[in-house]
Amino acid sequence: MREALEMKYRSLYGCHFHAETNITITPGATYAIYTALATIIETGDEVIVLEPAYDSYIPNIIVQGGIPVCVPLIAPTFAVDWQKVNEAVTSRTKAIIMNTPHNPGGYVWTKEDMLELKKIVQRKQIYLISDEVYEHLTFDGRKHESVLAYPELYANAFVIYSFGKVFHATGWKMGYCIAPDGLSNEFRKMHQFLSFSCNTPMQYALAEYLKHPEPYLQLPDFYEAKRDFFMALIRDLPFTVHESSRGTYFQTLGYDKISSLGDKEFAAWLTREIGVACIPFSAFYQSGKDDHLVRFCFAKKEETLIQAASRLKKLNAFL
Ligand SMILES: Cc1ncc(COP(=O)(O)O)c(C=O)c1O
Repeated sequence: MREALEMKYRSLYGCHFHAETNITITPGATYAIYTALATIIETGDEVIVLEPAYDSYIPNIIVQGGIPVCVPLIAPTFAVDWQKVNEAVTSRTKAIIMNTPHNPGGYVWTKEDMLELKKIVQRKQIYLISDEVYEHLTFDGRKHESVLAYPELYANAFVIYSFGKVFHATGWKMGYCIAPDGLSNEFRKMHQFLSFSCNTPMQYALAEYLKHPEPYLQLPDFYEAKRDFFMALIRDLPFTVHESSRGTYFQTLGYDKISSLGDKEFAAWLTREIGVACIPFSAFYQSGKDDHLVRFCFAKKEETLIQAASRLKKLNAFL
């Protein structure tokens, strides 16, 4: 499977790393993120986390004795505030965790974002943990900017992926970490005593499937169609749409026209009374910051999306 992955990334980004020395197969991306953090953090090290953030990052830092330094992204698009990121860098900064395309906000980093990051790592040696699990889920012609395509960034990076998103196999827990020789070596010392190895039959099966690039190359169109289908269904509903999702399979919606409840209470109420579940954004902030935004997932069958929209129509009665 490592050889198949080497071929995949060579054809995608023209990058030159080696199956043997640079790719480590892991039981999922969440595990790979934990292992990368455990590899580099010493007590008191600061790690910059851009919030809202995938929920494992902060507990993973704390359990290693590190200090999460949270920098807010710019709601409601969740673009990166580079001035704030720069201000957060101190002499104790060990790493930055980045995630593009971004869960939960659906923002997709641009080339300019990568160049801003490059300026920071040129100024100070910082490790990057780049969570790229939604690598193929970008819409409206946007291109995924991978750390693998920027040698100056890759030099100090753990770049992390998951088959959960790429092959619709969440729960199978198969992922991988790509890193330069020295970092891969250290990562594997940690991996040795965490899971030691990964499901071999699954690796043969995924290697076989990876020979065909069409399924992952068609993913942007597949999910863009689902996003558009979902957006058309909710057009006449009283949510505020700041913009259509740029990537991932999540859509951010505002609910100020419907309710003045806090986002957690609103999400619980919507699930209980209307029968459609969403996730409150405050759950992705250490501070519980509440911008009255919720995240809907459109990675569903069309009939499920239609049923959800028909239940959500009841919201018009609350206006
Ligand atoms: C940003 C992000 N990173 C990592 C993961 C987890 O990937 P895996 O299932 O391979 O652990 C997810 C899954 O929701 C995610 O959204």
